[in-house]
Amino acid sequence: MGRAGSVAGVDGMRRNQMYVCICNALKDRQLAAASHGARNVAEVFRRCGRRPQCGKCLPDVAQLIETVRDEDEGVSKLAAE
Ligand code: FES
Repeated sequence: MGRAGSVAGVDGMRRNQMYVCICNALKDRQLAAASHGARNVAEVFRRCGRRPQCGKCLPDVAQLIETVRDEDEGVSKLAAE
């Protein structure tokens, strides 16, 4: 599991801001905010106005997208009940 996935969900990341993408100085909070509804890593970077450089963070950003998607789906299910 990557760095982003090792944190206890997006809420945990909001409390423990950390750099996920060193090349672009992007923190987990920024990336999480840009991940809502994002289809892929490229879209998240585009929303942040940046481009991947070395690519080492890409698995972590992909994991972050999944975490945010799961949390968004959980919120939608609760709202529908
Ligand atoms: S750490 Fe994100 S592109 Fe290098």
